[in-house]
Amino acid sequence: MIELAVIGGSGLTELEGLKVTNQQVLETPYGKMSSPITHGIYGGKPIVFLARHGIQHTIPPHKINYRANLWALKHIGVKNILAVAAVGGIEPDLQPGDLVIPHQIIDYTWGREHTFFDEKLTHVTHIDFTYPYCEELRNKLLLASQNVDFKVFFQGIYGVTQGPRLETAAEINRMEQDGCDIVGMTGMPEAALARELELCYATCAVVANEAAGRNNEQISMAEIEENLIDGIDYVRQLLVKIM
Ligand code: HPA
Repeated sequence: MIELAVIGGSGLTELEGLKVTNQQVLETPYGKMSSPITHGIYGGKPIVFLARHGIQHTIPPHKINYRANLWALKHIGVKNILAVAAVGGIEPDLQPGDLVIPHQIIDYTWGREHTFFDEKLTHVTHIDFTYPYCEELRNKLLLASQNVDFKVFFQGIYGVTQGPRLETAAEINRMEQDGCDIVGMTGMPEAALARELELCYATCAVVANEAAGRNNEQISMAEIEENLIDGIDYVRQLLVKIM
């Protein structure tokens, strides 16, 4: 049985240090997954890895087939998912390279295939989503982040936007008023689909930039990519400890 899957986001299209054993492409009732599922050994334990935006980082957030990805992971026996995601920092204490393990979500996305419970139903199903993340996995991440030499914030409200454009300064101000600490584009419907499948799902967000309007600079992809390098290395350090 495979316990842990990592869904890698921007900056993490492959898991360095993973001893790959095989790759698997599944037919799913929902179409194609973003990438093959890579099976391997990491930190001495079996793990699987899936690249959310595709191996070549070509699938934008609104075109990701979240349902196929989650269905495939459940189908092969995954129980826990660590979702890695690049985000912008809204809360002023958050600096590029910091990690955030969010505890809440506000969903601003639209038009995405966001549920498994919409066709051929025997009864209407409403999942509980009061606390959108799996506390067990969040607690493991908290333990793993003791005594590390980088910053890990254990609370944060993740505002999920539609993208692929970045936000306006006014949108970020509104999100801040709503209570959001970080902004990204892939947190939903991924988290809700995982809950529908009764998977234990937590996110490790990597702050790639200050959110729009937080400084006078334009946000560039080059800056985001540069800032993700250290943050992704920190994610790997946590991952080894939770295995
Ligand atoms: N906004 C939305 N998504 C992001 C950002 C951002 O500023 N940075 C990285 N992903």
